[in-house]
Amino acid sequence: MGLTYEQSLEHFLKTFQKSKEMSDEAAKYIPGSYSRRSFNYGPHAIYVNNAKGAYVYTVDGKKLLDFNNNFTVSVLGYQNEAVDQALIETMKKGFSIGNPTEEEGELARMLCERIDSFEKVKFFCSASEACVGALRIARGYTGKTKVAKMEGGYHGFLDDFSFSAHPNASKADDDLEHIVPQPESAGIPANRAEDVVLLTQNNIEVSEKLIREHADELACVVMELQSGSGGIVTLDKAFVKRIREITKELGIVLIFDETITIRAYKGGLQSWYGVKPDLTISGKTLGGGIPLGVVGGSNEVMDVVTKDIVQMSGTHHGHRLACAAGIAILKQLDDVAYKRLNSMGERIKNELNIWAKEKKIPFIVFGESSVLGYAFTREIGQTIRTHRDYWLKSDAQKMQTFALEIAVRGFLPVHRGQLGLTLPMADQDITDFIETTKDIVSEMYA
Ligand SMILES: Cc1ncc(COP(=O)(O)O)c(C=O)c1O
Repeated sequence: MGLTYEQSLEHFLKTFQKSKEMSDEAAKYIPGSYSRRSFNYGPHAIYVNNAKGAYVYTVDGKKLLDFNNNFTVSVLGYQNEAVDQALIETMKKGFSIGNPTEEEGELARMLCERIDSFEKVKFFCSASEACVGALRIARGYTGKTKVAKMEGGYHGFLDDFSFSAHPNASKADDDLEHIVPQPESAGIPANRAEDVVLLTQNNIEVSEKLIREHADELACVVMELQSGSGGIVTLDKAFVKRIREITKELGIVLIFDETITIRAYKGGLQSWYGVKPDLTISGKTLGGGIPLGVVGGSNEVMDVVTKDIVQMSGTHHGHRLACAAGIAILKQLDDVAYKRLNSMGERIKNELNIWAKEKKIPFIVFGESSVLGYAFTREIGQTIRTHRDYWLKSDAQKMQTFALEIAVRGFLPVHRGQLGLTLPMADQDITDFIETTKDIVSEMYA
């Protein structure tokens, strides 16, 4: 029998003992020991002392090539000189000031110049907040209330969007035209589900039918072009184009949630699709590591904010440090940088998929640009086209086995099968990752 879950767990516990001690101590004061539950790395979190370039250095004395990069935020790696310098200089000028400062307008201008669908931008503190802001704008603009989202799609942790069949899609009803939205957590009023319509990724027949059926009440359709909440699901170009056509025809605001995918290209992943939404939600990378949320969109839709018909204001909205760091990041993310990031992604995908096919192992790597997903499917040749596919077809225990073992051997993916690439990663880093992956996967199937 090959490498088992129990063995990889034993290796993990032995390697990250100090992390376990810190986790136990923190658990006395923080529910579950840390605030970002999505980290959820096996039996306990891995604690980090410092981070530089493409690496994090753990309290256990391990150096890990970081494919998490703060859940895709830190695309330039850690301690990027220009970002750090921008922050230091901004701190010297004073931050946390009630008046607006130059940086906010400058970041907004840069975003409008880069992203075709942006004519106006409003800043928030996080993408979760931006999601709720975008929804309010869509409701204010259309005078309608309902929201259509993809089953399993993630749009932050706030109540309006926390309805899905995820993470229980394997138990969910097969009737795709009537997926019943479930609150994703206790504490979310169940009656809010009345405002949610769940669509199925890459299934245009069902999605179009549902959008038409609810058109009179739908304020918006919101979707990630590539979603990372269960594996990685990339929408087909034809699917996205058709949704654009229908929403335009029916007077429904189309919102792309590019919180992660904004890092794919200069104009976001929407530039790869060649489709312009009415509104785009983003954040993560754009704040350069400081919390920032963004809603960008057409003058026509954003006009409800300009005219104060839709009101939204927060103490820290447009925070000076986040805007300064965001400017410093965007200045470095030029065509050469995107090409390098995306070519690393292509290389990992191609080499591992060719290898797994040759070896007849049901392991696949998928996704566009510099954020990839991987999965151990139950059978060879299975593909992941929806989150439902991921929950039904991927082998959860094998995913965990691999995540624990590869951390022991020096690499840190997101445990649920995500790989984010960063600019400081060297060709040798990528080679080492590919070879280590092959070793572990071979051992698992030996
Ligand atoms: C697509 C998407 N939307 C919204 C969010 C929420 O962002 P934040 O956690 O910064 O509030 C995330 C976070 O992972 C995301 O991936």
